[in-house]
Amino acid sequence: MATHSLRVVSDRAAPLLPPLLQIDGVSLEYRTPERIVRATHQVSFDVHAGDRFVLLGPSGCGKSTLLKAVAGFVAPAEGEIRLEGQRVRQPGPDRIVVFQEFDQLPPWKTVVQNVMFPLRQARGLSRAEARERALDSLEKVGLADFADAYPHTLSGGMKQRVAIARALAMRPKVLLMDEPFAALDALTRRRMQEELLALWDDAGFTLLFVTHSIEEALVVGSRILLLSPHPGRVRAELNSHQFGLASQGGTEFQAAAQRIHTMLFGEPAAEAQTPRARSAASR
Ligand SMILES: Nc1ncnc2c1ncn2[C@@H]1O[C@H](COP(=O)(O)OP(=O)(O)OP(=O)(O)O)[C@@H](O)[C@H]1O
Ligand SMILES: [Mg+2]
Repeated sequence: MATHSLRVVSDRAAPLLPPLLQIDGVSLEYRTPERIVRATHQVSFDVHAGDRFVLLGPSGCGKSTLLKAVAGFVAPAEGEIRLEGQRVRQPGPDRIVVFQEFDQLPPWKTVVQNVMFPLRQARGLSRAEARERALDSLEKVGLADFADAYPHTLSGGMKQRVAIARALAMRPKVLLMDEPFAALDALTRRRMQEELLALWDDAGFTLLFVTHSIEEALVVGSRILLLSPHPGRVRAELNSHQFGLASQGGTEFQAAAQRIHTMLFGEPAAEAQTPRARSAASR
């Protein structure tokens, strides 16, 4: 089990700061008229300021539901979520979500108006302040020239950049991202991962990122929480800050990916060599 490429988090030195976000024994349920669906079971993890914390697990294990609970859209059936020690009870501008879908932007507003809107509504900035901050944020994602364009004239990748710019302009305590690049082609996805890491380097935000791609988790994350299939329970928590886009395809990276694959699916790593299994593992 001893390896340099993937350390189990209990090896981690004690953090200096208390956790920014605490998920403490959280079970999440959906109640339909017929039955109760348990999405996660007693999930616990801590996110520290500056972490790029990834929730990784198979489809249906409750990743999106966990993110919605952190955002304040879903109340835990059991356990508690705390941000800076305060119980999360409702949505707030300190937790902004970027979703997978490209239709997050009201189509009747221009790009800059889209970014300005929550700054005006939730942060109470004046028009001039909001515009300045929005343009600055658009500049950071390389879209300054498209400020006056309408969303329908943008590519999928550009729309996601606008959604990221809008979220970052709010300066949330935690940026929540639910498979934000999953609907993009492979090249654009890679570029967006690169840009996200560059933005993180530059702006130093705290990220809680959902994916079911092992490779994306290793590239984007500094820590990874592995969740079991439905209902999601914590399988393991790993450090992955040593990996980035440059290490993708390298021996250590592949070994880490295969170990995660085995932890998630309980299958020997050799399986990941067949194209079908590899695409299942990386999706
Ligand atoms: N609105 C809902 N009503 C009832 N059950 C739901 C609802 N939304 C999700 N579920 C159930 O809760 C479980 C967790 O769903 P969730 O969307 O959080 O999974 P996920 O890990 O995000 O999956 P994926 O990777 O496919 O996005 C699933 O079993 C799902 O069927
Ligand atoms: Mg989901």
